[in-house]
Amino acid sequence: MTTVTAARTAARVVDAVKVYGAGDTAVRALDGVSVDFPAGRFTAIMGPSGSGKSTLMHCAAGLDTLTSGSAWIGGTDLSTLDDRRLTALRRDRVGFVFQAFNLVPTLTVAENITLPLDLAGSPGDPEWIDALVDVVGLRDRLHHRPAQLSGGQQQRVAVARAFASHPDVVFADEPTGNLDSRSGEEVLGLLGRTVRHTGRTVVMVTHDPVAAAHADEVVFLADGRLVDRMENPTPDRILDRMKALEVPS
Ligand SMILES: Nc1ncnc2c1ncn2[C@@H]1O[C@H](COP(=O)(O)OP(=O)(O)O)[C@@H](O)[C@H]1O
Ligand SMILES: [Mg+2]
Repeated sequence: MTTVTAARTAARVVDAVKVYGAGDTAVRALDGVSVDFPAGRFTAIMGPSGSGKSTLMHCAAGLDTLTSGSAWIGGTDLSTLDDRRLTALRRDRVGFVFQAFNLVPTLTVAENITLPLDLAGSPGDPEWIDALVDVVGLRDRLHHRPAQLSGGQQQRVAVARAFASHPDVVFADEPTGNLDSRSGEEVLGLLGRTVRHTGRTVVMVTHDPVAAAHADEVVFLADGRLVDRMENPTPDRILDRMKALEVPS
Protein backbone atom coordinates (compact mmCIF):
# COMPACT_ATOMS: atom_id res chain seq x y z
CA MET A 1 0.00 0.00 0.00
CA THR A 2 1.04 3.62 -0.45
CA THR A 3 1.30 6.20 2.31
CA VAL A 4 -0.78 8.60 0.19
CA THR A 5 -3.75 6.26 0.51
CA ALA A 6 -3.16 5.83 4.24
CA ALA A 7 -3.17 9.59 4.84
CA ARG A 8 -6.50 10.14 3.12
CA THR A 9 -8.36 7.02 4.13
CA ALA A 10 -9.66 6.64 7.67
CA ALA A 11 -10.67 3.01 7.17
CA ARG A 12 -10.97 0.53 4.34
CA VAL A 13 -11.43 -3.09 3.45
CA VAL A 14 -9.80 -4.83 0.50
CA ASP A 15 -11.29 -7.95 -1.13
CA ALA A 16 -13.26 -8.55 2.06
CA VAL A 17 -14.92 -11.95 2.32
CA LYS A 18 -16.88 -13.06 5.39
CA VAL A 19 -18.41 -16.51 5.55
CA TYR A 20 -20.54 -17.48 8.55
CA GLY A 21 -20.84 -21.17 9.28
CA ALA A 22 -19.68 -24.01 7.04
CA GLY A 23 -20.92 -26.56 4.55
CA ASP A 24 -24.54 -26.44 3.40
CA THR A 25 -25.48 -23.77 5.90
CA ALA A 26 -22.56 -21.41 5.12
CA VAL A 27 -23.59 -17.77 4.49
CA ARG A 28 -21.32 -15.56 2.40
CA ALA A 29 -22.17 -12.25 4.14
CA LEU A 30 -19.37 -10.34 2.35
CA ASP A 31 -18.47 -11.57 -1.11
CA GLY A 32 -15.33 -9.64 -2.10
CA VAL A 33 -15.94 -6.05 -1.00
CA SER A 34 -13.30 -3.36 -1.50
CA VAL A 35 -14.26 0.05 -0.17
CA ASP A 36 -12.47 3.00 1.41
CA PHE A 37 -13.90 5.48 3.88
CA PRO A 38 -12.23 8.85 3.28
CA ALA A 39 -10.97 10.83 6.27
CA GLY A 40 -12.99 13.88 7.25
CA ARG A 41 -16.15 12.58 5.60
CA PHE A 42 -19.51 11.18 6.63
CA THR A 43 -20.17 7.98 4.67
CA ALA A 44 -23.36 5.92 4.87
CA ILE A 45 -23.51 2.19 4.10
CA MET A 46 -26.92 1.37 2.62
CA GLY A 47 -28.46 -1.83 1.41
CA PRO A 48 -31.41 -4.15 1.88
CA SER A 49 -31.75 -6.17 5.07
CA GLY A 50 -29.22 -9.02 5.03
CA SER A 51 -26.98 -7.36 2.42
CA GLY A 52 -23.98 -7.40 4.78
CA LYS A 53 -23.97 -3.84 6.15
CA SER A 54 -23.43 -4.74 9.80
CA THR A 55 -20.90 -7.41 8.90
CA LEU A 56 -18.92 -4.90 6.85
CA MET A 57 -18.96 -2.40 9.69
CA HIS A 58 -17.98 -4.96 12.32
CA CYS A 59 -15.07 -6.24 10.23
CA ALA A 60 -13.90 -2.73 9.24
CA ALA A 61 -13.96 -1.70 12.90
CA GLY A 62 -12.08 -4.72 14.22
CA LEU A 63 -15.09 -6.11 16.12
CA ASP A 64 -15.03 -9.21 13.93
CA THR A 65 -12.48 -10.80 11.62
CA LEU A 66 -12.68 -11.42 7.88
CA THR A 67 -12.54 -14.89 6.36
CA SER A 68 -10.18 -13.46 3.73
CA GLY A 69 -9.07 -10.05 2.54
CA SER A 70 -7.87 -7.24 4.76
CA ALA A 71 -9.30 -4.48 6.94
CA TRP A 72 -7.38 -1.30 7.69
CA ILE A 73 -7.74 1.59 10.14
CA GLY A 74 -5.52 4.29 8.71
CA GLY A 75 -2.26 2.56 7.86
CA THR A 76 -2.82 -0.36 10.23
CA ASP A 77 -3.73 -3.80 8.85
CA LEU A 78 -6.00 -5.18 11.60
CA SER A 79 -5.02 -8.78 10.81
CA THR A 80 -1.45 -8.04 12.00
CA LEU A 81 -2.63 -7.18 15.52
CA ASP A 82 -2.91 -9.66 18.38
CA ASP A 83 -5.99 -9.44 20.65
CA ARG A 84 -4.38 -7.04 23.08
CA ARG A 85 -3.27 -4.60 20.40
CA LEU A 86 -6.60 -4.88 18.58
CA THR A 87 -8.43 -4.02 21.82
CA ALA A 88 -6.13 -1.03 22.33
CA LEU A 89 -6.69 0.14 18.75
CA ARG A 90 -10.48 -0.06 19.12
CA ARG A 91 -10.27 1.84 22.39
CA ASP A 92 -7.90 4.57 21.21
CA ARG A 93 -8.64 5.03 17.50
CA VAL A 94 -12.24 3.94 16.91
CA GLY A 95 -15.56 5.17 18.32
CA PHE A 96 -18.88 3.32 18.23
CA VAL A 97 -22.54 4.31 18.29
CA PHE A 98 -25.08 1.48 18.42
CA GLN A 99 -28.82 1.38 17.95
CA ALA A 100 -29.32 0.51 21.63
CA PHE A 101 -27.27 3.47 23.02
CA ASN A 102 -25.31 1.11 25.39
CA LEU A 103 -24.85 3.69 28.14
CA VAL A 104 -23.91 2.61 31.66
CA PRO A 105 -27.04 3.26 33.76
CA THR A 106 -25.21 3.86 37.05
CA LEU A 107 -22.93 6.56 35.60
CA THR A 108 -23.82 10.20 34.98
CA VAL A 109 -23.86 11.72 31.51
CA ALA A 110 -20.42 13.25 32.12
CA GLU A 111 -19.03 9.92 33.35
CA ASN A 112 -20.51 8.05 30.38
CA ILE A 113 -18.90 10.49 27.93
CA THR A 114 -15.43 10.07 29.41
CA LEU A 115 -15.77 6.33 30.13
CA PRO A 116 -13.51 5.18 27.23
CA LEU A 117 -10.81 7.58 28.39
CA ASP A 118 -11.19 6.52 32.02
CA LEU A 119 -10.91 2.86 31.03
CA ALA A 120 -7.73 3.70 29.13
CA GLY A 121 -6.37 5.61 32.14
CA SER A 122 -6.14 8.68 29.94
CA PRO A 123 -7.08 12.22 30.97
CA GLY A 124 -8.06 12.94 27.36
CA ASP A 125 -8.26 16.48 26.07
CA PRO A 126 -10.50 18.47 28.47
CA GLU A 127 -11.07 21.28 25.94
CA TRP A 128 -12.20 18.80 23.30
CA ILE A 129 -14.57 17.08 25.76
CA ASP A 130 -15.92 20.46 26.82
CA ALA A 131 -16.54 21.44 23.19
CA LEU A 132 -18.24 18.08 22.54
CA VAL A 133 -20.66 18.66 25.41
CA ASP A 134 -21.82 21.83 23.66
CA VAL A 135 -21.91 20.23 20.21
CA VAL A 136 -24.30 17.54 21.51
CA GLY A 137 -26.26 20.07 23.60
CA LEU A 138 -25.98 18.31 26.96
CA ARG A 139 -24.44 21.05 29.09
CA ASP A 140 -27.45 21.13 31.42
CA ARG A 141 -27.72 17.32 31.70
CA LEU A 142 -24.16 16.40 32.70
CA HIS A 143 -25.12 15.13 36.16
CA HIS A 144 -28.22 13.23 35.07
CA ARG A 145 -28.31 9.43 34.67
CA PRO A 146 -29.32 7.83 31.36
CA ALA A 147 -32.77 6.79 32.69
CA GLN A 148 -33.56 10.48 33.27
CA LEU A 149 -32.99 11.29 29.59
CA SER A 150 -35.08 10.85 26.45
CA GLY A 151 -33.92 8.36 23.82
CA GLY A 152 -32.61 11.17 21.64
CA GLN A 153 -30.65 12.65 24.54
CA GLN A 154 -29.20 9.22 25.39
CA GLN A 155 -28.03 8.76 21.82
CA ARG A 156 -26.44 12.23 21.91
CA VAL A 157 -24.47 11.07 24.98
CA ALA A 158 -23.38 8.01 23.02
CA VAL A 159 -22.26 10.26 20.13
CA ALA A 160 -20.18 12.43 22.48
CA ARG A 161 -18.69 9.27 24.04
CA ALA A 162 -17.80 7.92 20.59
CA PHE A 163 -15.83 11.08 19.76
CA ALA A 164 -14.28 11.56 23.22
CA SER A 165 -10.91 10.00 22.46
CA HIS A 166 -10.40 11.88 19.14
CA PRO A 167 -10.86 8.63 17.20
CA ASP A 168 -9.73 8.25 13.59
CA VAL A 169 -13.20 6.99 12.75
CA VAL A 170 -16.59 6.63 14.41
CA PHE A 171 -18.75 3.70 13.28
CA ALA A 172 -22.50 3.91 13.83
CA ASP A 173 -24.83 0.94 13.21
CA GLU A 174 -28.45 2.07 12.69
CA PRO A 175 -27.96 4.88 15.25
CA THR A 176 -31.50 6.18 14.76
CA GLY A 177 -33.20 2.76 14.76
CA ASN A 178 -34.64 3.23 18.27
CA LEU A 179 -35.57 6.90 17.90
CA ASP A 180 -38.65 8.76 16.73
CA SER A 181 -38.08 10.68 13.51
CA ARG A 182 -37.51 14.04 15.20
CA SER A 183 -34.87 12.70 17.64
CA GLY A 184 -33.38 10.72 14.77
CA GLU A 185 -33.02 13.86 12.68
CA GLU A 186 -31.29 15.56 15.63
CA VAL A 187 -28.77 12.76 16.03
CA LEU A 188 -28.09 12.64 12.27
CA GLY A 189 -27.65 16.41 12.11
CA LEU A 190 -25.27 16.10 15.04
CA LEU A 191 -23.16 13.45 13.31
CA GLY A 192 -22.98 15.61 10.17
CA ARG A 193 -22.06 18.77 12.09
CA THR A 194 -19.40 16.97 14.08
CA VAL A 195 -17.76 15.74 10.88
CA ARG A 196 -17.91 19.16 9.21
CA HIS A 197 -16.79 21.18 12.24
CA THR A 198 -14.07 18.88 13.54
CA GLY A 199 -12.82 17.01 10.47
CA ARG A 200 -13.60 13.67 12.15
CA THR A 201 -14.76 10.67 10.12
CA VAL A 202 -18.09 8.87 10.46
CA VAL A 203 -19.19 5.62 8.82
CA MET A 204 -22.89 4.92 9.41
CA VAL A 205 -24.86 1.79 8.59
CA THR A 206 -28.53 2.39 7.85
CA HIS A 207 -31.40 1.01 5.79
CA ASP A 208 -33.21 4.39 5.91
CA PRO A 209 -32.81 6.65 2.83
CA VAL A 210 -33.65 9.77 4.86
CA ALA A 211 -30.92 8.93 7.36
CA ALA A 212 -28.38 8.09 4.63
CA ALA A 213 -29.07 11.43 2.90
CA HIS A 214 -27.34 13.19 5.81
CA ALA A 215 -24.05 11.65 4.67
CA ASP A 216 -21.58 13.14 2.17
CA GLU A 217 -21.57 9.88 0.26
CA VAL A 218 -23.53 6.64 0.25
CA VAL A 219 -22.08 3.23 -0.60
CA PHE A 220 -24.61 0.55 -1.57
CA LEU A 221 -24.34 -3.12 -0.72
CA ALA A 222 -26.43 -5.93 -2.21
CA ASP A 223 -25.89 -9.63 -1.47
CA GLY A 224 -22.53 -8.97 0.15
CA ARG A 225 -21.16 -6.94 -2.74
CA LEU A 226 -20.49 -3.24 -3.24
CA VAL A 227 -22.78 -2.21 -6.08
CA ASP A 228 -22.65 1.59 -6.19
CA ARG A 229 -21.48 4.82 -4.59
CA MET A 230 -23.38 8.13 -4.59
CA GLU A 231 -22.00 11.60 -3.77
CA ASN A 232 -24.23 14.34 -2.33
CA PRO A 233 -27.19 12.01 -1.89
CA THR A 234 -30.83 13.00 -1.51
CA PRO A 235 -33.56 10.76 -0.06
CA ASP A 236 -35.26 10.52 -3.47
CA ARG A 237 -32.12 9.48 -5.34
CA ILE A 238 -31.27 6.93 -2.64
CA LEU A 239 -34.80 5.55 -2.71
CA ASP A 240 -34.64 5.14 -6.48
CA ARG A 241 -31.33 3.30 -6.20
CA MET A 242 -32.65 1.06 -3.43
CA LYS A 243 -35.78 0.16 -5.41
CA ALA A 244 -33.57 -0.99 -8.26
CA LEU A 245 -31.51 -3.12 -5.85
CA GLU A 246 -34.53 -4.76 -4.27
CA VAL A 247 -36.12 -5.77 -7.58
CA PRO A 248 -34.56 -9.11 -8.61
CA SER A 249 -32.97 -8.71 -12.03
N1 LIG B 1 -23.38 -14.38 13.36
C1 LIG B 1 -23.93 -14.79 12.21
N2 LIG B 1 -24.05 -16.11 11.93
C2 LIG B 1 -24.59 -16.54 10.78
N3 LIG B 1 -25.05 -15.73 9.81
C3 LIG B 1 -24.97 -14.40 10.03
C4 LIG B 1 -24.41 -13.86 11.24
N4 LIG B 1 -24.47 -12.51 11.16
C5 LIG B 1 -25.03 -12.23 9.98
N5 LIG B 1 -25.33 -13.36 9.29
C6 LIG B 1 -25.92 -13.43 7.94
O1 LIG B 1 -25.08 -12.69 7.08
C7 LIG B 1 -25.87 -11.93 6.15
C8 LIG B 1 -25.55 -10.44 6.31
O2 LIG B 1 -25.98 -10.03 7.60
P1 LIG B 1 -25.80 -8.53 8.13
O3 LIG B 1 -24.40 -8.10 7.93
O4 LIG B 1 -26.34 -8.48 9.52
O5 LIG B 1 -26.76 -7.74 7.14
P2 LIG B 1 -27.43 -6.28 7.28
O6 LIG B 1 -26.78 -5.56 8.41
O7 LIG B 1 -27.25 -5.65 5.95
O8 LIG B 1 -28.90 -6.55 7.55
C9 LIG B 1 -27.31 -12.29 6.43
O9 LIG B 1 -27.67 -13.34 5.57
C10 LIG B 1 -27.27 -12.76 7.88
O10 LIG B 1 -28.31 -13.66 8.13
MG1 LIG C 1 -27.52 -4.76 10.26
